[in-house]
Amino acid sequence: MKGILLAGGNGTRLLPVTSAVSKHLLPIYDKPLIYYSLSVLMLAKIREVLIVCKEDDVKSFKTLFGNGSRLGMNIEYAIQNEPRGIAEAFVIGEDFIGRDSVALILGDNIFYGQGFSPLLLDAAKSSEGATVFGYPVKDPKRFGVAEIDESSNVVSLEEKPSEPKSNLAVTGLYFYDNNVIEIAKKLSPSARGEIEITDVNIEYLKRKKLKLKMLGRGFAWLDAGTNESLIESSQFVQTIESRQGIKIACLEEIAFSNKWIDLQVLKENYQRVKNSEYGEYLQLLISQREKL
Ligand code: G1P
Repeated sequence: MKGILLAGGNGTRLLPVTSAVSKHLLPIYDKPLIYYSLSVLMLAKIREVLIVCKEDDVKSFKTLFGNGSRLGMNIEYAIQNEPRGIAEAFVIGEDFIGRDSVALILGDNIFYGQGFSPLLLDAAKSSEGATVFGYPVKDPKRFGVAEIDESSNVVSLEEKPSEPKSNLAVTGLYFYDNNVIEIAKKLSPSARGEIEITDVNIEYLKRKKLKLKMLGRGFAWLDAGTNESLIESSQFVQTIESRQGIKIACLEEIAFSNKWIDLQVLKENYQRVKNSEYGEYLQLLISQREKL
C-alpha cells in the first residue's frame, strides 16, 4: 500500500501567518503540523509516501524529510499549485500509486487515541473497496457528513451540508483500492470548483464498497486549519506529552519501532535535533535501548 499526504492549499484562514510559510510547517506544540499526519501513515506501516504540496513548499518539506531514508522510508514529492480538490491527489499521484492500494491523509489532520494502530493496520489490510473514519462533532456543517443506520452502515454522504443528517464527520484519512484513480478521473468539480473526496466516497457507497469505522469517545481528532484549532491542538499535545512523558508523532520513534531504522540511524537523527526537548526525547529512547 502507498500513502499520499496532501499538504497543499493556501492556508487562507490563517493569514497573515501563512503569507510566507506553509500551514503544514507551523508548530503544533513541539513539532511541525505535518509530522502528525505522516506519523499516521507510518503507524499504518506505509513506507512509501508521496507528499503533494505547492511548488514553493517542496524545498522546505525536503529539508525536513529528504528522500525519507533517515526514517527508513521512500518519500517523493509532487506539485499541486491550485486548490483543485483533495481527490485530484489520485490523478497527480497516478504513477506513484501504480497498481497498489492507497491511503490518503490531509496534512492538517491530527489523530490521537488508544487502539488507533490496530484500526489502521486493519484498514490497510483490506484489499478491496474504501475505508473511511467517522467522528462525532459539534459542528458537522464544516465537514463531509455520514448518515448511518443501526448497524453503522453508511446510508448517505454529503459535503458540508447546510442541514446535516447526523453529527458524524468523515475525517481526513481514507483507504482505497486501486479503483480510486479511475473514480477520481471521472469526477466533475463541485460548486466550489473542487474535485471532492466526498464524491469519491459516494461512488464507493454506490458500489456497496464503502466501510466506515467509528472513532468514538476518548479519541481525539483535530484539524488545525484555524487560529483557534492551532492553539487548541498545541495545548492538547502539550497536556498529553508533559503528563505521560511520551511524544505524540515522534517520527523517529515510530520508524525505530517499525524496525525501519536501526540504532545507528536513530543516533544520527538525534544529532540533527539534539539541542531541543524533542532531541532529549530521542536521547532517552537511545539510552533505554542501550540498556537492554
Ligand atoms: C475536507 C473534506 C471533508 C472532510 C474534511 C476533514 O474538508 O472535504 O469531507 O470532512 O476535509 O478535515 P476541507 O478541508 O476541504 O474543508
